[in-house]
Amino acid sequence: MNATAIAHPNIALVKYWGKRNRELNLPAVPSLSVTLAPFETRTSVEWGTDTDRFEINGTVAHGDAADRVARFLDLIDGARPPVSITSTNNFPTAAGLASSSSAFAALALAATKAAGQSPTLTQLSTLARQGSGSASRSLWGGFVTWSLGARPDGTDSHGHAIAPQSHWDLRVLVALVSDEKKAVSSREGMNRTQETSPLFAGWVESGPSDVTEAEEAVRSRDLERLGTVMEHSTMKMVGTMFSAQPAVVYMKPATVAVLHTVTALRSQGIGAWATMDAGPNVKVLTTSDDASRVEAALREHVQTVHTLHVGGPAYLV
Ligand code: PMV
Repeated sequence: MNATAIAHPNIALVKYWGKRNRELNLPAVPSLSVTLAPFETRTSVEWGTDTDRFEINGTVAHGDAADRVARFLDLIDGARPPVSITSTNNFPTAAGLASSSSAFAALALAATKAAGQSPTLTQLSTLARQGSGSASRSLWGGFVTWSLGARPDGTDSHGHAIAPQSHWDLRVLVALVSDEKKAVSSREGMNRTQETSPLFAGWVESGPSDVTEAEEAVRSRDLERLGTVMEHSTMKMVGTMFSAQPAVVYMKPATVAVLHTVTALRSQGIGAWATMDAGPNVKVLTTSDDASRVEAALREHVQTVHTLHVGGPAYLV
C-alpha cells in the first residue's frame, strides 16, 4: 500500500539532552517544544516493493543512514516486505534545525498507514521517538511535552499536547549561521556529554522543574517567563557540551554575536529570547509585533533569517 504524510519540525523550548536507554531513546530529562511551520517534511511510503530504497532529499541513502531507516521500519513490522521511501524537506537537513524531528514523525505516520495499521497518536509518538527522540514531539501542533515516563519498555515516554497551534501566535526566527551538515551528530554529542561531563548530573536534576515552569508559561501566555526558562535550559545544555571531554562545540563566531544581539534587544525593551540545538544556528523566540525588528538585528550577523510561526499537527495527505 502507499501513503504520504507531512510533519513539521519542532524546536525544544526546554531541551532533551541525554538518554537513560540508548536503544529505546528514552530521555534522561523531560522536554517541551513548539511545532514550527512553514518548515515541513513530506514523506511517501510504498509498503511492498522489490527492494528497500530510501530517497532523502533527492539522494538514495546508504550505509548507516539506510540502516537506521530499515531498523525503524522493522519496529513497525518485523516480517515486513521491502519498502520504498521518498522524503523531502523544504529546509536544510542536519544543521541543528530539527530535521530529524519532522522526518521520523512523517515516516511513522506514512509507514504505519502504508502497512495497514491504525495506531493512536500516542503510539505513533512512541514509535517516532525510537527513530529520533525529538520526533516524539512532532505529531502534535502547538506546544508539546515529552514526558520522561517510568516504564522500562518506554511505552509511557511520549509526547502529549499542552496547547494547540491556535493558543499563541508566537514567532521563532532562525538565524542561519551555517546550513552545512554538522560534524558531530546530536546522538554522538549527547552520548559523549553524558559519559564525560561532570555537569551532567546537575542538568538531569534540574530538568523536570524547567518543564513545569515552561508549561505554566505556555498556559498563561507569559513570553518573558517562557523565554527566560528556555534560555536557561539552553545554556545549561550548552554548559554540559562545553564540559564534555573532548568538548562538543557547535557554536561559530556568528552564533555568539547573535546571542549578544538578543540580549541587547531585550535591554531595548524588545521581547526576544534565544535557543540553540546541536548546531551553530540560533532560534529567537519573539512576538509577531517585534519579529521584523528582531529580524533586522539578526541580519547584521547572518545572511539568512527564516521567520517561522507555530505549526499544526502531522497529517496524512
Ligand atoms: O532527537 P535528536 O537525537 O535529534 O536530539 C535532539 C536534541 C536537541 O535538539 C539538542 C534538543 C531537543 O530537545 O530537540
